[in-house]
Amino acid sequence: MDEHEIAESLGSWGTEDGPIYLTLADALDELIRAGRLAEGERLPAERRLSAALHVSRGTVVAAYDELRGRSRIVTRQGSGTTVAEHARPVQRLDPVPPRGAIYDGMLDGGFDDLIDMRSAYWVGVDDLPPEAFELPTKAWREVLAGAGYHPCGYPPLRGLIAKHLTDSGIVTSPDEVLVTNGSQQALALAAQLYLGRDDLCVVEELTYPAFIDLIAALRGRLHTTPVDSEGVDVDLLDRAVRRVRPPMVYLMAGVHNPTGAVLCEERRQRLVEYIENWDAVVLDDRTLAEMVIDRPRPLPIARPDGSALDNVISVGSTSKSTWGGLRIGWVRAEAGMVDRLSRLKAVMDLGSPIASQVMVSEMLARSEAPTLRRAELERRRDVLARGLINRLPEWRFDVPPAGLCLWVELPVSDVSQFISIAARHGVGLVSGAASSPDGGYRNYLRLPFGNRVEVLEDVVERLAVAWADHQKRPIRSALYGVIG
Ligand SMILES: Cc1ncc(COP(=O)(O)O)c(C=O)c1O
Repeated sequence: MDEHEIAESLGSWGTEDGPIYLTLADALDELIRAGRLAEGERLPAERRLSAALHVSRGTVVAAYDELRGRSRIVTRQGSGTTVAEHARPVQRLDPVPPRGAIYDGMLDGGFDDLIDMRSAYWVGVDDLPPEAFELPTKAWREVLAGAGYHPCGYPPLRGLIAKHLTDSGIVTSPDEVLVTNGSQQALALAAQLYLGRDDLCVVEELTYPAFIDLIAALRGRLHTTPVDSEGVDVDLLDRAVRRVRPPMVYLMAGVHNPTGAVLCEERRQRLVEYIENWDAVVLDDRTLAEMVIDRPRPLPIARPDGSALDNVISVGSTSKSTWGGLRIGWVRAEAGMVDRLSRLKAVMDLGSPIASQVMVSEMLARSEAPTLRRAELERRRDVLARGLINRLPEWRFDVPPAGLCLWVELPVSDVSQFISIAARHGVGLVSGAASSPDGGYRNYLRLPFGNRVEVLEDVVERLAVAWADHQKRPIRSALYGVIG
């Protein structure tokens, strides 16, 4: 499209409040998402577009800068500014995620013998008291006397989760809790109920890879909004929600995966005010909320008096604070929503395994697990971070205050070649692009530190050797073929 066609397609783009360059960037972004500006298509020069839109050249310059920051457009010397090759979210035809995703190391006991650095799980329970993983005899006998089916959750566990949530800052009663198979099922149930085919869900520009896959499987679509080291930019999020009017927003408003950012308190309070005015259902994923090292545990999305917002579904899990193999998570929502989600869950599985629920009840009643886990979390984070700083000084990352991953930038344009080399050295990696609904961040790796310390030390050594190999390889250049 030339500048006049763009001006015509944008129509009355300038009516939104807020900085004009952002409104223009958002409007151009919409044209890219809708496919009206095609991937690889050249954009008009700033001067020409500014004349056609009757705005200053500075406005177009700033809007292009913003879109470059979102990886929607690229500017190359000689070829001008073009729409980026991966600017549109991939609409998968197959609901099943392709191989090369985060699950490869978990499926079929692993497709390979690689050390699995693709999934952000916790390995082992040596840091917790062994008794925590024994079934308490009395409670277990009582359960065995019944049928064992509880689609809403084992009643004592619903009560204990409600108490745990109330203590952590959101007043909750047992009928506002549904026990699920990990938080993954909680996300799946909520998305199935509140997101229809082709509906848009607003998500952070970097997000939990399995949520991207979940929405692809449900044939929904994602619309991204920026995050930084303080978590999601709540003002830009509010703009996006008011503009796109999605039925659902998915956030990690506590601890963010993959960056480990913790939403700062001032932003959290503003977010609560914004959400009160949205029609969208907000799915707040607090799976990592207990995994804090250098920060206090982030407060949930709730009003200052601890009361919940009716349009927020929060999701939690014991996978990180105890053990993922128990497969116990939960939904916390308004009682009517929990009732509908429970009936949907009953259709899917008639309830989560009761032995795990009895065990988790015991752990929640004792509640020392998160504190013990945090000490080991810090140790594992520091081993991986220190190892990379010493052995791979060209790789760049901030040591995160929370979470389970380092978010690492490599000095390459795309990490895929390095991932193949690392596999030959025995380490399974996944590209940063798996965390990006827009297919950006191809020069990043998400490196989980949930593995044992000795494994992480081994991983660092293998990655250092793999990187040395990678650096010895011929550099491919689009202009000159193979150099060196
Ligand atoms: C942000 C986030 N949400 C959900 C999950 C799923 O966890 P669960 O094991 O409770 O299903 C994970 C697991 O890594 C996660 O990081």
